[in-house]
Formats: sequence, C-alpha cells, structure tokens
Amino acid sequence: MIPVSSNGKTEVIVFPSIKKACVDASERFLALFRQAIQVKGIFTAALSGGRTPKLLYETLAKISYKDKLDWDKVHLFQSDERCVPMDHSESNARMIREILVSRIKLPEANAHWMINNNSDWKRSAKDYERTVRKVLNAPKGIPIFDLILLGLGEDGHTASLFEGSRALYEKKRLVVPNFVPQLNSWRITYTLPLINRAKNIIFLVGGKEKKEVFSKLFDLRSQIPAKNVSPVKGNLKFLIDESVIK
Ligand code: 6PG
Repeated sequence: MIPVSSNGKTEVIVFPSIKKACVDASERFLALFRQAIQVKGIFTAALSGGRTPKLLYETLAKISYKDKLDWDKVHLFQSDERCVPMDHSESNARMIREILVSRIKLPEANAHWMINNNSDWKRSAKDYERTVRKVLNAPKGIPIFDLILLGLGEDGHTASLFEGSRALYEKKRLVVPNFVPQLNSWRITYTLPLINRAKNIIFLVGGKEKKEVFSKLFDLRSQIPAKNVSPVKGNLKFLIDESVIK
C-alpha cells in the first residue's frame, strides 16, 4: 500500500519496465518544458547521475524527443557530482555529456557543470550556488527549479545526500561539498532546502534490488535520506518498474 502524501501531491506510478518509465518521464520532461516556456520562456532542470537516470537521458536524446524541445530555452544543471575530473569514468557530467548533451542542440552556456575541472570542491560548490541563483533569477530566498530528477540508491541516498553525511542536515546552503564516509570520497550535492523547493521532483527507480529501499520510503519506522525529499509546494512523483514492488 503506497500512501499518497498528506498534501496529496505524492504519486507513485508503476510501469511494466524501467524503459517504459523513462518514456513516461520523457513525456513529462517535454510537458514541463512547454509549461515553463509558456510562463517564463526558460525551463530549468537538474539531473542526477546513476544507471537509472542515465536511461532517461538516452530516451530524451532520441529523435522522438530531442527534436521537440527548443534547447535554447533549456538550462540543464546537475543535482550532484562526484569530485573527480570531468573526463573521469565516475563523473556524472561526463555521462550526461556523452549520453545527452552531445546529441542535442543545447547551447554550451546552458549546460551548468558542478566541477568545471577545478579541484577546489568548496569553491566549486559556492560558484555553483551562485550560478543557480543567477540563472533561476533568485538572488535571495530559495531558487525554484522546474524539475529535479533524482535516483534512489540501495542505501537510501538520493543526489549525494548519504546517511550520516553533513549535507543531509544542511538547512541554509543550497549546494555544498559533502564527504561521504561510506565511499571515503567527496561529492558536491544539492541540499534538501533546494531540492524541496522544486516545482516538480521525479524519482526514477528500477530493478528488484531497489525493492527493500523503496518500501522503506513509505515505512513510518524507517529513516533513509531520500525520505526527506518532500516538496514544499511542488509535486513528487515516483516512476518505478513493477519489480520494485512485486
Ligand atoms: C550519483 C547519483 C545517485 C544516483 C542513485 C541511483 O551520483 O550516484 O546522483 O544519487 O542517482 O545512486 O543510482 P542507480 O540508478 O545507478 O542505482
């Protein structure tokens, strides 16, 4: 039983396969793009790393979608990044560039990368927060993304908000460096204040290996980082394949 959240804005949609979930996510991306363009002429989306989000970027890069968007009006951001050079095999930016950005007509200036080949992670995070505020035209308060796309780790993390890591408890900053003891490595990540202000948050979750962690999201006794994603005013959708709940 998947309860709808108290504000009725949380929805779980089950698909026969993660591929079909990615087609639905692409349709939603397109619809949210059209809505945003109509209202303000710009669409801002923050993309996660990971195997499942990668499937969405492959779908979005297909003719059936990429030619329907006016990429000039799209600004793509990252919701988190591994602190490695942008050409490193672990880099989310490298994956997003290879799978999506290299195949669409997105102006270089509209692709906002967290690391930008500078190894001062604190500086990168501060610069990125400034960029988010500038492009989303929110010098004060909390910028509102049209869409933040998230994955769900088997340990319950999302973006790079891991159990017990400092960023999970950050209440003021929007983008921070985050040491992840479990991985013994540094990440840069959006914080919950920024994530939870988004108009639309979509989780893409697939595979039977995510069954246990997904059920924890709706178990009142459990506490996993992803459970803190709760939009202040926006919509939260979980697009999952049936193996996640069967
Ligand atoms: C990262 C991601 C991370 C990812 C989840 C799901 O940098 O690793 O941003 O939050 O989205 O771990 O990844 P999978 O879909 O590969 O399980």
